[in-house]
Amino acid sequence: MSFDRSLKIAPSILSADFANFGLECEAIEAQGADWVHVDVMDGHFVPNLTFGPATCAAIRPHIKGVMDVHLMIAPVDPYIQAFADAGADVITAHVEAGPHIHRTLQAIRAAGCKAGVALNPGTPVSTVKYLMDMVDLICVMTVNPGFGGQKFIHSQIEKVAKLRAMIGDRPIHIEIDGGVDPTTAPLVREAGADVLVAGSAVFRGGSVSKPEVYGENMRAIRAACDS
Ligand code: DX5
Ligand code: ZN
Repeated sequence: MSFDRSLKIAPSILSADFANFGLECEAIEAQGADWVHVDVMDGHFVPNLTFGPATCAAIRPHIKGVMDVHLMIAPVDPYIQAFADAGADVITAHVEAGPHIHRTLQAIRAAGCKAGVALNPGTPVSTVKYLMDMVDLICVMTVNPGFGGQKFIHSQIEKVAKLRAMIGDRPIHIEIDGGVDPTTAPLVREAGADVLVAGSAVFRGGSVSKPEVYGENMRAIRAACDS
């Protein structure tokens, strides 16, 4: 996984057909997805449940590029090795998930993965100040985590700009997760984000038998950022 700040679209398979994850991953990659974003929820850290490492391992052979695993779980540490073994390229844990995010990030890198840290909308950028040299990605949640299809929280744009300044020349991705669509994407791109997660805005109107809609939806996000 090489580093650059070019725009990357990471469709969230939370909005895909859960009975068809393999084909859905293949379809979004064929239509131009840069990364595949995988939302793991535990019904405890967030009020929703999705799936765990076995599902990640099952979909891994259907993803050619980056498998970006977003853990909305607490505790995190007991499960890191399982997600690494499942083939995650990036594992992101929440700064709010426990008292030992520093140890968690060390463990993610020790397991051979890129380490990401996510911030809920109410969490300030100061919480990552002393983590800057041990993360590969900072995820700014632009909705409260747990569900797809929520409204983008505009106050987070300032947070992205602050993080971009804190990062400086370090090779750290800024990822945006929640409510990204052609209207909101340019706002966070402009503020310094490079990875845009999008669930409903990518999958809306398409299916594995109508995959060209995924391509159109992704192109609309890119075009909005370019203009
Ligand atoms: C929210 C998840 C997101 C979600 C985004 O808890 O982390 O990845 O799927 O969905 P949209 O793009 O529909 O807001
Ligand atoms: Zn996510």
